[in-house]
Amino acid sequence: MTAPTALLRSLPLLRCPNCGEAFEATDRGVVCGRGHSFDRARQGYLTLFGPRGRRFPGDTPDQVAARERFLGGGWYASVADAVAGAVRTSSSSPAGFPVVAEFGAGTGYYLAHVLDGPGPALGLGAEISAPAARRLARAHPDLAALVCDTWEPLPVADGVVDALLVVFAPRHPAEFARVLRPGGVAVVVTPGDGHLEPLRSRLGMLGADPAKDARLGEDFAEWEAVGERRVDVRLPLDRAAARDLALMGPSGVHLDQADLEVALDRAFDDTTLPTRLHVRVRVFRRPA
Ligand SMILES: C[S@@+](CC[C@H](N)C(=O)[O-])C[C@H]1O[C@@H](n2cnc3c(N)ncnc32)[C@H](O)[C@@H]1O
Ligand SMILES: [Zn+2]
Repeated sequence: MTAPTALLRSLPLLRCPNCGEAFEATDRGVVCGRGHSFDRARQGYLTLFGPRGRRFPGDTPDQVAARERFLGGGWYASVADAVAGAVRTSSSSPAGFPVVAEFGAGTGYYLAHVLDGPGPALGLGAEISAPAARRLARAHPDLAALVCDTWEPLPVADGVVDALLVVFAPRHPAEFARVLRPGGVAVVVTPGDGHLEPLRSRLGMLGADPAKDARLGEDFAEWEAVGERRVDVRLPLDRAAARDLALMGPSGVHLDQADLEVALDRAFDDTTLPTRLHVRVRVFRRPA
């Protein structure tokens, strides 16, 4: 099967995770100048692990399926709009941001939304989870899907990314600064206070760690904070959406399924449960 066009277009931006050399396309995937080869999956994504290989699987197939159903319901459309707006308004060049990358991109919901807008021409979507990468590879025709680990050196050349997104996903600020061009921005989405209440308490979902926000400040201490948008609305969630929301997050692998159904029955007596969607969308410009 031939490689997706977006993946071929992305090759000049990628680097071998073993030695840092550039790649050439082969029938099966890519090979670097020193002969390290990496296969492309039948579903169209490229796996680029370095010497340490895959250290953990990332989101499970069930979590990814729940995420796809939930996001497909449009519940987080306001977050996608805020992310796309943040990318658009922080571009200082008339051409906008030609290359946008997302790390821990999940199903590609946010990156595809950004690529739908004016400006961005190519998206690099990276995930550690193979089931997520399968969805990512068909999220948008201009999106190249990669499997790699955000916490390792990224298989991306220096200064080739114009804007990057991290939405409820792990960060690696030193590597983000390296792959961004001077003036490039990171758009970082994190949960705000009370996000998903009262559903979270009623279903026993894992809460956000309050120390996380302080860590975000530390991560980007050297970067210029250039703006923040908040989304703070009530979602009239129904039982099916609430179930997917519980299953797609970290709680998806911790909650006992039978207990979850009982808690859902208690929370929903055939009505909807107004649930707070509160997220912070922050933009940081790369240190000079
Ligand atoms: C909470 S989900 C968010 C997914 C997507 N950004 C969204 O909001 O729909 C976190 C994602 O990060 C991925 N992930 C976790 N650790 C990672 C790592 N070290 N490198 C790359 N991806 C990772 C998971 O597989 C999962 O898809
Ligand atoms: Zn190599």
